[in-house]
Amino acid sequence: MILKILCIGDVVGRPGRQVVSQAVPALMRERGVNCVVANVENAAAGSGLTEALYEKFLRYGVDVMTMGDHIYRKADLLPVLERSDRIVRPANFPPESIGREFTLIETKAGPRVAVISLIGRLFIKTVSDCPFHAVERVLARLPRDVKVVVVDMHAEATSEKVAMGWHLDGRVSVVFGTHTHVPTADERVLPRGTAYVTDLGMAGPYDSVLGRRKDRVLHAMTTGMPTPFDVATDDARMYGVIVTVDSDTGLATAIERVRWDAAPGSDGMDD
Ligand SMILES: [Fe+2]
Ligand SMILES: [Fe+2]
Repeated sequence: MILKILCIGDVVGRPGRQVVSQAVPALMRERGVNCVVANVENAAAGSGLTEALYEKFLRYGVDVMTMGDHIYRKADLLPVLERSDRIVRPANFPPESIGREFTLIETKAGPRVAVISLIGRLFIKTVSDCPFHAVERVLARLPRDVKVVVVDMHAEATSEKVAMGWHLDGRVSVVFGTHTHVPTADERVLPRGTAYVTDLGMAGPYDSVLGRRKDRVLHAMTTGMPTPFDVATDDARMYGVIVTVDSDTGLATAIERVRWDAAPGSDGMDD
């Protein structure tokens, strides 16, 4: 059967949560989306995720959450990372770190979907092993009948994300990049059938610097003085991709960028 997988880039703060709460149910209804994967590493005031917000994303229709370098910012997420099969940590973190290396979920439509998170090593300050070796280890652990595999490559360097796309071409359904918060226009299905995009872009306030208040970031960058980078408020949009996957082969037949603007009059509340 055909699976339509919606992949959503880093959700930033309340404006990001609000637009996700509007967009996900609408895209499921209007576009036949039947699986939703979202990177939520910036959902809690711009950094990390709480248990309450995790529950909210499930209610909005998100099936699996990925994270990144902000994963351990909120202590109350640790029990969720230990018990839930709806959230994964980067598979190339040290084996002792809390969270699962991949998850396998039943979609509402039927086919099982595996989700793997990876983190890059170039220009990013986390303790991690090689993402290329880690993904091989995880792929080898997947049951043979699992064909649909989603990979979030959370990385700063474009080259590292492009390389991961080629590394996995024909072996997973989609490789999408996250972390840089700006959507890229290079979405395509690679020759062996893996959908790829270098960065999904964020779900968050675009009247900002990557989701943070412009005045705060400019003050820090021009004066060198420490400045709190509060989450911005205006021009909330969600960017991501919808990937069409043949669940019999696990390969993609199409990838399309999507943009969803917050409804006019949205007040920043996401309840
Ligand atoms: Fe992020
Ligand atoms: Fe990040």
